[in-house]
Amino acid sequence: MEQKEIHITYSQFGSVEEMNAEDRELVSESIKAMGGAYAPYSHFHVGAAVRLSNGQIVRGANQENAAFPSGLCAERTAMFAASSKYPDKDMLSIAIAGGVHGRLGSTPASPCGACRQVMAQYQTKSGKPMSIIMVADGKILKFEKVDDLLPMIFNSI
Ligand code: THU
Repeated sequence: MEQKEIHITYSQFGSVEEMNAEDRELVSESIKAMGGAYAPYSHFHVGAAVRLSNGQIVRGANQENAAFPSGLCAERTAMFAASSKYPDKDMLSIAIAGGVHGRLGSTPASPCGACRQVMAQYQTKSGKPMSIIMVADGKILKFEKVDDLLPMIFNSI
């Protein structure tokens, strides 16, 4: 038997000003995307912005439903929209912002497991790392690839 370890590294920024211009823009788009949230049940508004290989940014926001499982997270709304509109483009990065009643929170918006699995799929499809940026007020985290949030990704079929 051998003990193995998985190491994850990520960057933490105190403000968007510390980020490069592309990431700054994506963060800003994710915050704008929160405006599209429909969250009458949780009142938690989430926005996501996906940067594509053609330079386009596609936004999405969480959509809730009285039949709870019928709603969808912001990240998957954005990724499915991006893939539907630009099926042959790669998703290079996704930024996520969220907060109660649309006010950006102080804890970075962390994607749920189902959204991580969908990110993994598009990363595998493109063969290029997709970075993930989690946005909060005064704290922004950047992970360089989906594997950092979903080690041992399932992509065996
Ligand atoms: N939500 C997202 O949009 N993204 C996540 O990664 C986690 C949760 C949404 C779903 C629901 O509308 C609300 O946040 C509360 O869970």
